[in-house]
Amino acid sequence: MKKVIFPTRLFRWFLGKQILTTAISFSVAGFFLWIWFDTQSNLSRQNLEQSHLVIFTSLLMAFMIVVTISFVMARRLVIPLGRLIAKTVQLRKYPFDDEVLSEKELAFDEPGEWYDLERALNKLGYDLRQKTIRLSREKTELRAIISAMSEAVLAVDIHRHPLFYNPQFAVLFNVEGTDSDDIVLSELVRDPFVLKAYEQSLFQGISQKVKLDLELNEAVHHFEVSVAPLKKKHNQEVYGAVAVFHDVTDMKKAEQIRIDFVGNVSHELRTPLTSIKGYLQTARMDIEKGQHGDAVEFLNIVEKNVDRLKALADDLLDLSRIESGEELKRKMVNTRELTENVIDMVRSKEHVLHFSYQVDQFEADQFRVEQVLRNLLQNAVRYVPKGKNIWIGWEKSPEGQTLLKVKDDGPGIPKKHHERLFERFYRIDESRSRELGGTGIGLSLVKHIMNSHGGTVSLVSAPGEGSEFICNFPIKVNEIKSP
Ligand SMILES: Nc1ncnc2c1ncn2[C@@H]1O[C@H](COP(=O)(O)OP(=O)(O)OP(=O)(O)O)[C@@H](O)[C@H]1O
Ligand SMILES: [Mg+2]
Repeated sequence: MKKVIFPTRLFRWFLGKQILTTAISFSVAGFFLWIWFDTQSNLSRQNLEQSHLVIFTSLLMAFMIVVTISFVMARRLVIPLGRLIAKTVQLRKYPFDDEVLSEKELAFDEPGEWYDLERALNKLGYDLRQKTIRLSREKTELRAIISAMSEAVLAVDIHRHPLFYNPQFAVLFNVEGTDSDDIVLSELVRDPFVLKAYEQSLFQGISQKVKLDLELNEAVHHFEVSVAPLKKKHNQEVYGAVAVFHDVTDMKKAEQIRIDFVGNVSHELRTPLTSIKGYLQTARMDIEKGQHGDAVEFLNIVEKNVDRLKALADDLLDLSRIESGEELKRKMVNTRELTENVIDMVRSKEHVLHFSYQVDQFEADQFRVEQVLRNLLQNAVRYVPKGKNIWIGWEKSPEGQTLLKVKDDGPGIPKKHHERLFERFYRIDESRSRELGGTGIGLSLVKHIMNSHGGTVSLVSAPGEGSEFICNFPIKVNEIKSP
C-alpha cells in the first residue's frame, strides 16, 4: 500500500502566516474605516452604529473567505510535496515496491514546477531501481558461479582481509567457523610464494601464477594458483586481489600414468622383439651355413614370443575398450557353466581345485566375467606352488550381491603392494612374473571389468597366509525383488 505523507508543519506554517497577515491587514483596514466613519459629522449616531456593524461584519466575512481560500491553497501546495517526500523515502528502501517508480508514473499531472520535479524524481528512481536490480542479479549470479566452481577462490582487500571466498576454499583451508572479518590473509594461506604473489598483486598490480603443494587427508595435492589484482573501473586503482586455486593433482597423475604406460609398453615390446630378432638372426646364419638342426627349436621360441606379443596387444586393446566405456552385453550368466569354460582354458593338474556354488546365476557380461575368473585363476596357477589348493566360490553377500571369490594357500602378497597391484604393468617380482609369461595387465583388466559392472574387486592377503580376491557384483535394480 502506498504510504501518504502530509507535510503538516509546512501546511501549518503557511496557513498560520496567511491568517496572521490577513488578520493584521483587515484589522488595520477596519481601524481606518472606523476612524473615517467617526469623522463624518453628517452621520447620525444610529447610522454610525450601523456603519460600524457593516464594517465589522463585512471584514469578518472577508476574513473567513480569505482563510478558506488560504486553507485550500495551502493544501494544494503541500500535498504534492508530501507525495514527493514519500517517493524519496521509498527510493532509499530495497527491495523496491513494484507499484512505485515506474518511469511513466506521475501523480501530479498539472504542468508546472511540481510536475517537472516529480517527473525528474520518477526518472531518477526508475534508473536507480533498474541499476540496483541489475547489480543485485549480477552479484547473485557471480556468487552462484564462484560457488559452483571446482576451484577454490579467495579475494582479499588492500588490508589483506577477505572480501569473499567460496565453499571450496573454506573446505581446503579449513576456514569454517572462523570470523572472516577479523582474519587476515596470512592466517588463511601460509605458503610464502602465494603470499608474495598476493602482495605483488596488491601493491604492484601484477598478475601471476605460482605452484602450491598442500597435504590433504594424508595425500599431497598440487595446485596452480593464479593471483590477479582487483582494480576500480574508473581509475584503475587496486582495491584488492583474487586468487584461484586450481587442483592439478589428477592431471599430474594422469600425465605420469601416460608416461609410465608408454615406458612400460615399450619395455614389454622390446623384450620379446629382441628375442625374436636374435633367434631369427641365428636361424638365418644357420640356414646360410646349411645347418637346419636347431631351426625348428628357434622357430618355436620365435612363435612363443609372437604369441606373447599378441597376448599383450589383445590385453591392451581390451583394457582400452573397457576404459572407453564399452557397452556390456548383460544376460543371465550360469556360474557353473562359466567356471567350467574357464577351467578348460586354464587347466592345472598340479593344484587341488575346490568349488562352491551358492549362486546359480546372475546378470552380467558373460565374456567379461570369464576374463575376470580366467585372470584370477591364471594368477593362482602361476604364483601358487604345485600341490597347493585353489578355491573358487560363488556366494551371495548379506546385501544380496553376487560375490566371486578366488582363494589360494600360496605365498600371499605383502600389504604394501595391495594398493598398486591393480595398476597396469604392476608386478611384485617383475623378472619372475615375466619368466612365467606375465605382463602385469591381468589384475588391472579385472579391476576395470568390475568397475564397468558397477562393482569392485578387493584383496585379502598377507605373506604366508595365501591370497583371496573378492569380486563384488552389485545387484541390478531389476534384480531387487520386494520380500
Ligand atoms: N594369487 C597370487 N599369489 C601371489 N601373487 C599374486 C597372485 N596374483 C597376482 N599376484 C602378483 O600380482 C602381480 C600382478 O598380477 P597381474 O595378473 O596383474 O599380472 P601378471 O600375472 O604378472 O601378468 P598378466 O596377468 O598380465 O599375464 C603378479 O605379477 C604377481 O606378482
Ligand atoms: Mg595375471
